[in-house]
Amino acid sequence: MGAVLITGAGSGIGLATARLLAERGFRVYGGVRKSEDAKALRALGVVPLFLDVTQEESLVQARRLLEGEGLEGLVANAGIAVAGPLELIPPSVFRQVLEVNVLGAFATVRTFLPLLRKTRGRVVLMGSVSGLVALPLAGPYAASKFALEALADALRVELLPFGVRVVLVEPGPVATPIWERSERWAESYLEPPPSGTERVYGRYLEVARRAARASARRGLPPERVAEVVLKALQDPRPRARYLVAPRGWQTLLLRHLPEALRDRLLARFLA
Ligand SMILES: NC(=O)c1ccc[n+]([C@@H]2O[C@H](COP(=O)([O-])OP(=O)(O)OC[C@H]3O[C@@H](n4cnc5c(N)ncnc54)[C@H](OP(=O)(O)O)[C@@H]3O)[C@@H](O)[C@H]2O)c1
Repeated sequence: MGAVLITGAGSGIGLATARLLAERGFRVYGGVRKSEDAKALRALGVVPLFLDVTQEESLVQARRLLEGEGLEGLVANAGIAVAGPLELIPPSVFRQVLEVNVLGAFATVRTFLPLLRKTRGRVVLMGSVSGLVALPLAGPYAASKFALEALADALRVELLPFGVRVVLVEPGPVATPIWERSERWAESYLEPPPSGTERVYGRYLEVARRAARASARRGLPPERVAEVVLKALQDPRPRARYLVAPRGWQTLLLRHLPEALRDRLLARFLA
């Protein structure tokens, strides 16, 4: 089995994937930013690499360590989420989401491509159902995941001549720390509603909070997504996209509904 690097392997989907791949005999490198996460990975037989996807130097250093390792898989998983009405989200926060989820994934792939080209390896990008339908109160996050869909489509075709396959995994809600983190983070950045909007935005914030807590409680176990990442890495004929959502049909239905009808349905969810 070859070597695989997973970014954001300290928790949630990345951690579950690192654990599963290590169990299945892959040589796994897990990107982390905290020493306690590095320690936990070592205990699973995963080699931790300190890596921040927004810091090019950190990516290049990690590549130096992996040169000669025969990197066969890259799982660009690191990501962050924000929630709330767009008017209350400062542009700096929106920028940070794009910085990690889009440019971070792009920089990661770009840095490790020379190694993947040598092995005709595989790239797995961690998308989301939010890249298929943009729900209200998830604007910046959905924008980042829509961007990842575009990145995957372009990259998949560009890398065909090199035999490097690009696969996008699109999970629905998964029970990981991302929900609590995003709720905690929102407390620090959400701006007060402008005068006259308090009632509407107050309700929206309550809906966002309830939705996040429900996803944290009832979301898929991250191990389910890890299984799909394994499939995406191993399938002899990988699909371009793997939707991982029990009610994925709802997403696909919403995506294809006439917009006026979709807007009315979604507005009801906010009422
Ligand atoms: N949970 C869901 O419902 C869901 C659904 C669809 C898609 N996804 C996607 O799945 C991926 C993993 O999310 P998760 O749910 O497993 O959340 P998570 O437990 O919060 O994991 C996110 C990971 O990304 C890392 N990370 C954040 N910023 C980083 C940076 N600048 N450089 C390197 N690593 C960074 C975090 O490291 P630190 O701990 O050091 O911050 C953490 O290990 C994300 O791309 C997310 O958008 C999640």
